[in-house]
Amino acid sequence: MSFSPLHRKLKAVTQESSLRAAQTYLTDHFGDSSIMVYEAGGGSDSYLPLDRLQVTNVLVVDIDFGQLKRNEYSKWKVKGDVQSCAFKEGSFDLIVCYNVIEHLDAPDAAIRLFYEALAPGGLLFIGAPNPSSLTGLITKYTPHLLHVAYYKYLRGWEDAGKPGFAPFPTVYSPIVKPERLKKFCVELGFHIEYFCEYRSSHYASIEESNPLLGRLLIGLTGVLNAMTFGTRDLTNGDYHLIARKSGSTLSRRARV
Ligand SMILES: C[S@@+](CC[C@H](N)C(=O)[O-])C[C@H]1O[C@@H](n2cnc3c(N)ncnc32)[C@H](O)[C@@H]1O
Repeated sequence: MSFSPLHRKLKAVTQESSLRAAQTYLTDHFGDSSIMVYEAGGGSDSYLPLDRLQVTNVLVVDIDFGQLKRNEYSKWKVKGDVQSCAFKEGSFDLIVCYNVIEHLDAPDAAIRLFYEALAPGGLLFIGAPNPSSLTGLITKYTPHLLHVAYYKYLRGWEDAGKPGFAPFPTVYSPIVKPERLKKFCVELGFHIEYFCEYRSSHYASIEESNPLLGRLLIGLTGVLNAMTFGTRDLTNGDYHLIARKSGSTLSRRARV
C-alpha cells in the first residue's frame, strides 16, 4: 500500500484545515469534468465545495424525512437506507458519507455498496468521529438522552433531539475505527488518497459555552495523552478519509 503525501498525519489540525485540504484534493482530482455525486446520509448539509465542482446532479439518500425536507442543495432526494440502497456500477464519480457511518449498524455493507456504485477511479469521501478518542469514548458509553441534553443546553441547539434533527443515535460499529476502516477499504479495492485526524470541535464549543468545563476537559485529555506516553493524541476526535476506487478515470471522462 502506498500513500500520497497528503496521507501524512498532521499535528494539531482543525476541522477547517483538514476539510480545506480534502476539498482541494477533490477539486484537483475532478478538474473541469462533469460529475455525478451521491450524498449518502446527506441530511440537510453538504461539506462539498459544490461551487468549485462541475456537478451534474447530487443524489441524496437519507433515512430521515425531516432531514430531506430541509435539504436545499439537492433536487434529487430519496428516503432510504444507505446500507441497502444499491446502484449499478459507474453510477457516481463521487460518494460522500459525512458524519453518518457512526450511526449505522452495518457500515461495511454501506461501503461495499458505495464501492460497487462508483465509476472506476471514482472517489469516496468519508467524515466520521473516532470512537477511540476521548469524545468518541464519552459518546460511546453514555446514553443518547445525555447527547441530546449536551446539544440542547450546552451548545444551545433548540431543536436538538426533535424528529428530523441531530443528534442522531450513535452505534459505533467497530469498523468506524480509522485503522479498521482503512484496512477494509483497501481490501475492497480502494486506494487511500487522503487521511487526516483532527481535533474535535467539541473542545472549542464547550470552552466557549463553559470555560471551566472546557479547561477541565482539555486537562483530562492532557493527562490521558501522557498516559499513552505521547503515542496518541486523544483530542483528535474526528477524521477525514478519501479513498479512490481502482481503475482508470478515463472511463469516467469518456462518459461526460
Ligand atoms: C449527523 S447527520 C449528518 C448529515 C450530513 N451528512 C451532514 O454532514 O451534515 C447523520 C445523517 O445520517 C442519516 N442516517 C442515519 N442512518 C441512516 C441510514 N441507515 N441510511 C441513510 N441515512 C441515515 C440521518 O438521518 C442524518 O441525516
